[in-house]
Amino acid sequence: MHLFNIFTAAFSLLNIGRGVLGVPNPNSEHNLVERQARTTPILTVFPGQAALPTLADIINLNATNGTFLPIQNIQGDILVGMKKQLETFYFFHINDPASFKTALNSYVPTITSTATLLSPASSQPLAFVNIAFSSTGLQALGITDDLGDSQFSSGMYADATNLGDSLSTWESPFAGTNIHGVFLIGTDQLAPQDSYVSFYVSGIVSTFGSSITEVDRIDASARPGDEAGHEHFGFLDGISNPAVAGFSTTVLPGQTVVPSGTILTGRLGDVALRPSWTLDGTFMAFRKLQQKVPEFDAWTLENAIQNPEGTLTVQQGADYLGARMFGRWKSGAPTDITPLVDDPTLGADPQSNNNFDFAHANSSLISDQSRCPFSAHIRKTNPRADLADANTINHAIRAGTPYGPEVSSSEASSNTSTQDRGMAFVEYQSTIGNGFRFQQINWANTANFPPLKTVTPGIEPIVGQGSPRTADGLNPVDPSVGYTVPQFVIPTGGEYFFVPSISAITDVITAS
Ligand code: HEM
Ligand SMILES: *[C@@H]1O[C@H](CO)[C@@H](O)[C@H](O)[C@H]1NC(C)=O
Ligand SMILES: *[C@@H]1O[C@H](CO)[C@@H](O)[C@H](O)[C@H]1NC(C)=O
Ligand SMILES: *[C@@H]1O[C@H](CO)[C@@H](O)[C@H](O)[C@H]1NC(C)=O
Ligand SMILES: *[C@@H]1O[C@H](CO)[C@@H](O)[C@H](O)[C@H]1NC(C)=O
Repeated sequence: MHLFNIFTAAFSLLNIGRGVLGVPNPNSEHNLVERQARTTPILTVFPGQAALPTLADIINLNATNGTFLPIQNIQGDILVGMKKQLETFYFFHINDPASFKTALNSYVPTITSTATLLSPASSQPLAFVNIAFSSTGLQALGITDDLGDSQFSSGMYADATNLGDSLSTWESPFAGTNIHGVFLIGTDQLAPQDSYVSFYVSGIVSTFGSSITEVDRIDASARPGDEAGHEHFGFLDGISNPAVAGFSTTVLPGQTVVPSGTILTGRLGDVALRPSWTLDGTFMAFRKLQQKVPEFDAWTLENAIQNPEGTLTVQQGADYLGARMFGRWKSGAPTDITPLVDDPTLGADPQSNNNFDFAHANSSLISDQSRCPFSAHIRKTNPRADLADANTINHAIRAGTPYGPEVSSSEASSNTSTQDRGMAFVEYQSTIGNGFRFQQINWANTANFPPLKTVTPGIEPIVGQGSPRTADGLNPVDPSVGYTVPQFVIPTGGEYFFVPSISAITDVITAS
């Protein structure tokens, strides 16, 4: 509570934002549960991930760096990364704009700010809720302003073939522009299973009534036990996200610092002209990416590679191939630092697991793939020293959560997926065409990227799309071998959304 007072005072001093934060609405139906004290925070910092700043740390940024972001007005999921145990995506269509606006106005106290997610656990609600709108959603509400992002305006379905997707694998709720918005509900509460999420979903249903219709729902969750923080292929995730000026209070070794405007619309570094009410919003690229896990496991076994000494078992060779496809071992340890064997201590250490840039003394950046293939997932999506400058505008914050069950024994023994699992992928950036879309099209899907290499890098083997799907450099003994990698990640839907600031919801979105 002490921190809250400092923080509220800090903001009233600066006279920015809404002034009061963390005060539950006494009329809110959620108030009953919000009063239950939490002992753990909503967000979980998984092994290997950057810690979250505290409110006090962020206020101190003002003293040291002269500025900090109005985090009481910025929706909570944007800046924090992949730290959810449970996350539900509730996609909706607006039937009745007028009653939707009235309901949303009453619901605003439940929309969770970044400040709330950084506050002490005991003052956090049971779950966070964020809201985002598609372009057709804003239009349905009578907001016809051009937000200055053409991909957002046309929606992801219209962009799907440009991204390399096959429309035949898109699920019907996402095909078209019928989704007007999405509620994100996130919490750490795993037992009793889903009870907090169900509580918030029923709160949405009772608050919004027939003004909206549920179009689709994805219940995502961190994997169980030791796999928590790992995506379904088994690799630790959420390790490398950029530090954001005005928010991140420490910069980890090897971490890129981006201006706040790379992520937040209207901030320094945002390259587009937009209506002033979009300040402190962001664009969210949502992708439902199905993962063929038993197929990936079988293929890496069938194509197991050898180290230069020839000492690996088939299983070790499969793990080695998988690590080279990602550029990290399953523990998160980067192959650029530990090329031949996994190093779980390194993987779990945020002080060192990003401290590399693919350049080495006595190694040629344009030809040497012995440590990390040019086509590896993390090299294609963040080329570090492969590019002459830091390309900060092409960074984005990844914040997705895995969905679907663990692989069953019958799926494993048949090498065939029978259940839907994958990544409810989320990336936040101020310009879709510079962040997610650039990483997907210009980098992952482009065989000649990174440029100026002595050999063609090939397509990124995990999420790269194109035909043929040939990734080079995976075999360290003979990097000229081209691997035609089956598609283990199938895009099955998605949408581009705008995530407004909380004051934009009250002042613009719900205004008539
Ligand atoms: C199911 C699909 C995907 C899986 C399983 C996956 C998995 C991973 C893993 C394991 C890492 C390494 C951990 C880390 O550095 O945080 C990673 C990093 C990353 N991924 Fe993905 N990813 C997927 C889709 C995508 C897509 C579609 C994009 C963008 C088009 C993307 C962009 C990135 C970026 C930018 C990084 C950080 C690279 C760095 O800074 O070193 N990922 N991903
Ligand atoms: C921010 O720093 C300025 C100058 O250093 C100071 O006058 C101001 O009170 C500080 N604001 C907060 C909220 O700490
Ligand atoms: C603070 O400012 C310095 C100098 O501009 C910069 O190098 C540093 O990265 C900033 N730190 C944060 C956490 O933004
Ligand atoms: C690079 O090569 C030079 C000359 O062969 C050698 O003296 C030096 O120790 C090497 N450096 C590294 C980091 O291997
Ligand atoms: C599954 O893949 C493994 C590895 O390639 C192979 O040994 C096994 O025979 C396959 N099983 C089936 C049922 O196809």
